[in-house]
Amino acid sequence: MRDKYIRDHIMSIKPYEPIVPLDVLSDQLGIPIGELIKLDANENPYGMPPASIRRLADLSFGHIYPDPESRYLRQSLSAYSGVPYENILVGAGADELIDLIMRLTMAPGDKMINCPPTFGFYDADAQVNNLEILEVRRKSDFSLDLPGIEKAVSEGGKLIFLANPNNPDGGVINPEDLVKILSLPILVVLDEAYIEFASPYQSLAPEVLNRDNLVVLRTFSKWGGLAGLRLGYGFFPLPLAIAIMKIKQPYNVSVAAAEAGLGVLEDRLIVNKRLGLIIWEREKLMAGLNQLDYLVPYPSRANFILCKVLEGSARKLKEDLTQRGILIRYFNKPGLEDHVRFSIGKPEDTERLLAALEVLRP
Ligand SMILES: Cc1ncc(COP(=O)(O)O)c(C=O)c1O
Repeated sequence: MRDKYIRDHIMSIKPYEPIVPLDVLSDQLGIPIGELIKLDANENPYGMPPASIRRLADLSFGHIYPDPESRYLRQSLSAYSGVPYENILVGAGADELIDLIMRLTMAPGDKMINCPPTFGFYDADAQVNNLEILEVRRKSDFSLDLPGIEKAVSEGGKLIFLANPNNPDGGVINPEDLVKILSLPILVVLDEAYIEFASPYQSLAPEVLNRDNLVVLRTFSKWGGLAGLRLGYGFFPLPLAIAIMKIKQPYNVSVAAAEAGLGVLEDRLIVNKRLGLIIWEREKLMAGLNQLDYLVPYPSRANFILCKVLEGSARKLKEDLTQRGILIRYFNKPGLEDHVRFSIGKPEDTERLLAALEVLRP
């Protein structure tokens, strides 16, 4: 609907499609929340670590505004990562940092390079910020089209977002390609939301100190089990970090999110043990999926597996699984036709998923 008060470019935005919340789905399906298996948004099936739960239960300063500089959390992140405090920023999810980077560096009409299929928020947020999007589609194996990226830079691309591992396929960028991309005259935002699951593949976080054109983003949503609390962080070259501090909302990270984040860093041993269980489960699910001749899974270094559906309809598969209380992601986008994505759950989730996929074999 048109409205004279709304800016023109907002009217033509294709909105980001978030997933349906668990309680709403439970009501819609008539299945109790406890019986739903949520494998659609790459959350952590083990939940928050005990120290986060304890800190939230003990929270006594919910009535006081949070620290605008998130000092204790950034100090802990510095100790955890080895990156200096001044280069670290936190936000209400990596999503907020993505938006802040666009607002900091791009004027309306500036050109941003996006490499789909990838995380849908880059494109959605670029539209909100009225950017021109130069699309350099990935190849059929989801690897990057390097000559395409070089060409987009020569056409004026100023900023590129690269998820590493990429969502939705779970592949990682070849390190030589990364070096080449970093040598281009462009700001590179490497989104490492899933990097903990990719071990021994190395993060590029330490490189932020050696270059002025690299930002590395991370999140507590996946590895840390805090998706609902909204907490992300990033490593920034100093001038960018200082400038973002000027434009961010003063109280962007809530008292609760900061406490829970400190809990994750305190309980690192437990969180990393759970990480090991998820990686183990990924390989089990991969082996199971390989037994099903109507699905072709892609190798993944993240906490999900993308599959091409060879026979039958991917949409129908998603609907049939939903009716059984198993929630998965189905994509209907260019390059992802007939694809579904399964987040990695607990062992019992893998069993129920594989059993249902067997029954639903076309
Ligand atoms: C590649 C990627 N980056 C960022 C995010 C968002 O992270 P956050 O929950 O910290 O906003 C996601 C969430 O799915 C993602 O897949």
